[in-house]
Amino acid sequence: MVSIAVNKGRENVAMLGIGAYRPTRIVSNAEVCEVLDSTPEWIYERTGIHNRRWISGDETLRTMAAAAGERAIANSGIDRSLIGALVLASSSWLKLTPHGAPTIAHDMGMNGIPAFDLTSGCGGFGYGLGVAADMIRAGSADYILVIGAETMTVGLDPTDRGTAMIFGDGAGAVVVGPSDENGISPTVWGSDGENAEAIAQNVDFLAYMDKAQALQGADPDAEPVGRMSLRMEGPRVFRWAAVTLPRALSSALEMSGVAKEDIEVFVPHQANARINELMRKNLGLADDIPMANDIENTGNTSAASIPLAIEEMLVSGRAKGGQLALLLGFGAGLSYAGQVVRLPPVPLEPSF
Ligand code: COA
Repeated sequence: MVSIAVNKGRENVAMLGIGAYRPTRIVSNAEVCEVLDSTPEWIYERTGIHNRRWISGDETLRTMAAAAGERAIANSGIDRSLIGALVLASSSWLKLTPHGAPTIAHDMGMNGIPAFDLTSGCGGFGYGLGVAADMIRAGSADYILVIGAETMTVGLDPTDRGTAMIFGDGAGAVVVGPSDENGISPTVWGSDGENAEAIAQNVDFLAYMDKAQALQGADPDAEPVGRMSLRMEGPRVFRWAAVTLPRALSSALEMSGVAKEDIEVFVPHQANARINELMRKNLGLADDIPMANDIENTGNTSAASIPLAIEEMLVSGRAKGGQLALLLGFGAGLSYAGQVVRLPPVPLEPSF
């Protein structure tokens, strides 16, 4: 029988470089409360957020993703001609067709490489990192650029008390490639479609188009077409997180073979500082372990939050390249993905 060739991959993979882009416009809680029925104190107490960054001027998801990707490549020291695939983790690229990754690869001078989008809400970066690591292990590429990029504000209702104060914009990226020692554990991931409506667009595309069409036809009974926006049942997500995430973190440790005492840095998704503090305590990580708190001045940037948070810790000196870190992303779908990793080197080209 004719046999089909099998790829030969590299067993040990790692994040070789990290890059980020933070929008220039900083939006304080006080500014959010000019429109939202809330107070700066309530927002900080319940979420841990003081400021978030929102795009302005020429900034778009496309420009931010390319800028973060450029910095990740520069910081990895890898020649871009070696990048064998681009994975864009995003839930806010505004066209289903064409998807974003090919355009961004072209913008970055890498036209022609395999490039695809991966949509898994705020867990998107963890999914992208897991897929990239496994692609390299399987021999599908040697070096892969994973970009998490979001413009959450384009679908944000500034008067919605469940979301308006939480979300921000930004992009973070890593180059994943072969390494002498393994730097990325197996991924622990999952989803809960039964509770998926807890974080959802307020209306799907078809219903939105039907409404617009009815208005165009001057249907007297048609409701005005509002802007499509994101809704979140925060307390429901909080309850799901309290049950699901501690288990995911324990599994990530178990599958990595790394004892929790050896974890040097904790980088949970930047959704809510209170959730993160609870997870740290429940898992029994030391009180003084460096824990990402990028949410305080960046807000929740969904699939961009973990690389942005890692970059902030490396640039500020709260974490060092090569340290063992526990990552966990979670959000829409109710999906999650986590790994134990060795942190990439401190970026020579930081985002701030
Ligand atoms: N400003 C001021 N008050 C608000 C408010 C706002 N934006 N939103 C709600 N409130 C009020 C409510 O009316 C309620 O008042 P009451 O006690 O008088 O009835 C009170 O604050 C508590 O409301 P609740 O909805 O229970 O708030 P919360 O403490 O759960 O905080 C979130 C809301 C969204 C910050 C929180 O639920 C959360 O972060 N959940 C998880 C989000 C997450 O992890 N998402 C996954 C990734 S995207």
